[in-house]
Amino acid sequence: MRVVVTLVSLLLLGARAQHEWSYSEGGLEEDLWPQEYPACGGHRQSPIDLQQNKVRFNPALKALNLTGYQEDRGDEFTMINNGHTVQINLPPTMRMMAPDGTEYIAKQMHYHWGGGSSEVSGSEHTIDGIRHVIEIHVVHYNAKYDSYDIAKDASDGLAVLAAFVEVNEYAENTYYSTFIAHLADIRYPGQRTILRGLDIQDMLPGDLYHYYTYEGSLTTPPCTENVHWFVLADSVKLSRSQVWKLENSLLNFRNETLHNDYRKTQPLHRRVVEANFQYFPNQRSEFRFYLNEINDNLEYLVRTFEQREVKSRNRH
Ligand SMILES: *[C@@H]1O[C@H](CO)[C@@H](O)[C@H](O)[C@H]1NC(C)=O
Ligand SMILES: *[C@@H]1O[C@H](CO)[C@@H](O)[C@H](O)[C@H]1NC(C)=O
Repeated sequence: MRVVVTLVSLLLLGARAQHEWSYSEGGLEEDLWPQEYPACGGHRQSPIDLQQNKVRFNPALKALNLTGYQEDRGDEFTMINNGHTVQINLPPTMRMMAPDGTEYIAKQMHYHWGGGSSEVSGSEHTIDGIRHVIEIHVVHYNAKYDSYDIAKDASDGLAVLAAFVEVNEYAENTYYSTFIAHLADIRYPGQRTILRGLDIQDMLPGDLYHYYTYEGSLTTPPCTENVHWFVLADSVKLSRSQVWKLENSLLNFRNETLHNDYRKTQPLHRRVVEANFQYFPNQRSEFRFYLNEINDNLEYLVRTFEQREVKSRNRH
C-alpha cells in the first residue's frame, strides 16, 4: 500500500514539475504562460516600461500612508525559497492606505533580480527602457476582504508597493545584513528560515512620498489583472557584494542558480501611468547622475580615512 501511495505522489510531483512555470529555462516559459494562464495574455499586464515623458503628473495624489512597517518588537518573519524568488511573509499589522482611501494589508515581500551574467540587471519595471539591478515587491490585499485567498481573485483585490535597488559600490546597507546572511539557509526550493528584528521600512527607499501608479497585474502566473501598482521613484542602495549574494545564493527547482527571475515588460495599451512628481527632462537625470557620482566619491573618501585612522591607531 505504501509503495502505491509513494508511486502516486511521485507521479503527481512529476506532473507538477512539468507544469511549473519558468522564465526562460525550459518548461512553461514566459511566452507560453497564456496557454495555461489566459490572463497572462490580457491587456493590463505588468510589468511595463515607465516612459517618463508620457507619465501624467497628478499633484492630487497624496502620499501612501504606511503603518506598522517600522515596528520592531522582536517580530519573527518567515523567509522562504519558493523556487522562483526569496519571499518574506509579513504580519497583518503592516498596512498601506492608498491615496483613494483604500486600506490594504501586507502579505509578503519578494525580490526580482538578474545576475545571469555579470552585467545583467533584473528589475521588472523599467524607466525609459533602463532596467535597474533589483526590484522589491511588497504585496498587499484589500482590507475589505477576509483573507488574501479571497482578495487574490477579486477585481479590486491587490496592491503592490515596488521599489528599485541601485548599486552603491562602497557602502554596505546594514539594514539588509540579516536578510542577506540568511539566504544561505534557504538554498533549496521549499526551505525556510526565521528572521528576527527586521524593520521593513528601513529596507525600502528613504523617500516613500514620490511614486508612479497604474492599474496592472501580477507579474507571475496566473497574472491576475487586479493589482494597483505603486512604484517608488527613490531607490534602495546595496553594495556590489550584497547584490552578488542575492543573485547567487538560491537554487531553482532544477538545482540551478536562480538568475534573471523577471518578466519582460508588457504593452501599455490604453492605460495611463500617473505620478505625484514632475519630470524635467535632461536636467533631472543629469543632476541625479552627478549627485550619485559625488555621493559615491564621498563614501570612498570616508572609508579611506577610516581605514587610515585604524591603521595609525594600531601603530601607536
Ligand atoms: C495613516 O493611517 C493611520 C491608521 O489607519 C491613521 O491613524 C492616520 O491618521 C493616517 N495618517 C494620515 C496622514 O492619513
Ligand atoms: C537538488 O539537490 C539536492 C541536494 O543535493 C537533492 O536532494 C535534490 O534531489 C536535487 N534536486 C534535483 C531536482 O536535482
